Amino acid sequence: MHYYAAPMEGLTDRVFRQAHQAVFGPEAAPERYYAPFISPPENRVLIPKKMAEVAPEQNPGAPVIPQLLAKDGALAAWMIGQLRGLGYTEVNLNFGCPSGTVTAKGKGAGMLRSPAALDEFLYTVFDQAGGPVSVKTRLGVADPDEFGEILEVYNKYPLCELIIHPRVLKQLYRGEADRAAFARAFGQCRMPVCYNGDITAPGQLTGLEGEYPGLASAMVGRGLIADPALFRRARGGAPATREELRAFAAALYAGYTEAFGSAGCAISRMKGFWQYLFGRFEGAEKLEKQLRKQRQPWEYEVTVGQIFAQLPLRDEAE
Ligand SMILES: Cc1cc2nc3c(=O)[nH]c(=O)nc-3n(C[C@H](O)[C@H](O)[C@H](O)COP(=O)(O)O)c2cc1C
Repeated sequence: MHYYAAPMEGLTDRVFRQAHQAVFGPEAAPERYYAPFISPPENRVLIPKKMAEVAPEQNPGAPVIPQLLAKDGALAAWMIGQLRGLGYTEVNLNFGCPSGTVTAKGKGAGMLRSPAALDEFLYTVFDQAGGPVSVKTRLGVADPDEFGEILEVYNKYPLCELIIHPRVLKQLYRGEADRAAFARAFGQCRMPVCYNGDITAPGQLTGLEGEYPGLASAMVGRGLIADPALFRRARGGAPATREELRAFAAALYAGYTEAFGSAGCAISRMKGFWQYLFGRFEGAEKLEKQLRKQRQPWEYEVTVGQIFAQLPLRDEAE
């Protein structure tokens, strides 16, 4: 079974990919890093800052799969052509994003409101761009039973993989991933399937193989930020050490400071990572509160120094 790093806007970008590979090594690396979504520009003029994220020279050694967020099939097909021009083969389509600003435009999980429109979109994509194309989906808008009709559409196309996050749009990230609904869907899928949702421990990853024989892959998002050595542990390797976590936080901070041209901007990005990384440390509440308020590079750097000098590491993130 393959392991994939989930696309997470504001987290799993090119800086993350380089830091993750460099610090935790090949044993901890996923087979694929799915990049956070890019929206194809309606005027078909590529935005250099967005394209830099998936530029091959910015992603050395990282097996990146670009992801598109679109509702116009012809525009998506054009963008797939642009990405293929950069050397990419598989492109992933996002039918899972539950954000209000995205779904209000009928994109992301908003595409699941109309299986007929979804069908038309996929028909145009395959007609004009061809494969390999994969899809990342939720189960529906309000009820997991909607997935029957949605899957009938997916099953019509030669998707190279279907990544299922078994929640509905309305759940956002609340509640639990619906494993029973995933199991029902899995048996009906005609393409390779990837499971995604709420995996935080290596035993859960290896358990999936027994639970769903034939499952092609598992994708992890928040659990991988909380434990960047998760895949290494699932492959029988060592947990993340304090030194690795320190080096990882330092590489991210340095990478974002360079990318944004300012340590101040890097700090707000780092707070997103710390939201998950704090789970690895015992008794982190006071320093967590302190870090949340900080804006100055020196304050941030002192607090991070305190975290690594003072807090015991937990075996599992909480
Ligand atoms: C902050 C954040 C940003 C995300 N950005 C994306 C994205 O760009 N594309 C996407 O398909 N999913 C995105 N997701 C969803 C994740 O890829 C994943 O499906 C979700 O977090 C569930 O997996 P997990 O429980 O392993 O985290 C995002 C999730 C979070 C929390």
